[in-house]
Amino acid sequence: MTPPSPSRPDLSQRILENLHTTVLLFDQQLSLRHINPAGEMLFAVSAGRIVGTRAHLLFNHDELVAALRTAVATGHPFTERELVLALAPQRKVTVDLTAIPLRDPQSGTELLVELNEIDRQLRITRDEGILAQSAATRALVRGLAHEIKNPLGGLRGAAQLLERELAAEELKEYTRVIISEADRLQNLVNRMLGPNALPHKQATNIHQVTERVRQVVQAEVPETVHIHTDYDPSIPDLEADRDQLIQAVMNLVRNAAQAVSPRGHITLRTRTLRQYTIGQTRHKLVARIEVIDNGPGIPPEMLENVFLPMVTGRADGTGLGLPIAQSLVNQHGGLIECESQPGRTAFTILLPLTPVAAEAERPRHTR
Ligand SMILES: Nc1ncnc2c1ncn2[C@@H]1O[C@H](COP(=O)(O)OP(=O)(O)O)[C@@H](O)[C@H]1O
Ligand SMILES: [Mg+2]
Repeated sequence: MTPPSPSRPDLSQRILENLHTTVLLFDQQLSLRHINPAGEMLFAVSAGRIVGTRAHLLFNHDELVAALRTAVATGHPFTERELVLALAPQRKVTVDLTAIPLRDPQSGTELLVELNEIDRQLRITRDEGILAQSAATRALVRGLAHEIKNPLGGLRGAAQLLERELAAEELKEYTRVIISEADRLQNLVNRMLGPNALPHKQATNIHQVTERVRQVVQAEVPETVHIHTDYDPSIPDLEADRDQLIQAVMNLVRNAAQAVSPRGHITLRTRTLRQYTIGQTRHKLVARIEVIDNGPGIPPEMLENVFLPMVTGRADGTGLGLPIAQSLVNQHGGLIECESQPGRTAFTILLPLTPVAAEAERPRHTR
């Protein structure tokens, strides 16, 4: 970089370093000469490792590289919208790209390339919507739960007193039903109150969670409901409340099982995502847990509101499964997203991973 003015020698450097946009500078042969920090984040690699890489290895996109060559040869800038780049086998990003040839009398033509990650922008806006909705939901559910909790205690106490007064054993059956149902409701209410029970965090392997859920749900459903697993065994442990995560995943897998019953397929898939933004926070490493089923899907008019309490499509449903799952995952800094069409419904849990080993933090090598 050439210093822009004697008074603020580092101004353009600072601007470049703090831009959200990726800025790349290539030489005439399309070797990378400079990358800003946003670019290092996008490519998940440090500048030291990537400078000198040729454009065709960097972008993995023949047409784009041909266009870049033409721009260098002709000196004409161009913009390419909604370009999909496969930056790594598991990582596709959609960007708006602008290439600007810079003629330099000494070093020939250099090419300035700007990349703006657009799916990230769209996703962040949507995530913020989900998180805001989830916070409103939590306030409503907590209010409701408190209203139920108090009379419930009185109800249970009265049934206990009554039980003591009853001589006939067969009548006590009834008071026991009242007591056990009151206990069940109490448990439900406690779960709805969620955050009151502070999460008990411990190193948790995400597959302990998914396997437990798989076993429980498989025992509940007919054998014609198949639960498949597709796990990435390299996912590091995360600090989490295991029971809460089991509850969250359970709610999703039970819904899937109910949707496909009496026969169908459910897949539990786990992967990691690098440099991923949840809400407003960018995480180095995120676990993605997908629950996919081949059932009839969620009706489009319901899809917007599935995470709201009391929204249910089932006669005996409470409409609490998804908001509770969402709230439990939010407490872990994560988010649940949903996509649905007939034949394929996917609920995706995104959970930030605090890598336990330094090894896990190292960005994957860009090919
Ligand atoms: N995998 C799925 N396939 C189809 N519909 C689903 C799926 N998951 C959830 N739903 C719909 O969303 C509704 C809300 O789910 P949930 O919050 O768990 O409450 P409940 O299961 O008590 O109805 C369900 O009643 C169902 O209509
Ligand atoms: Mg449910």
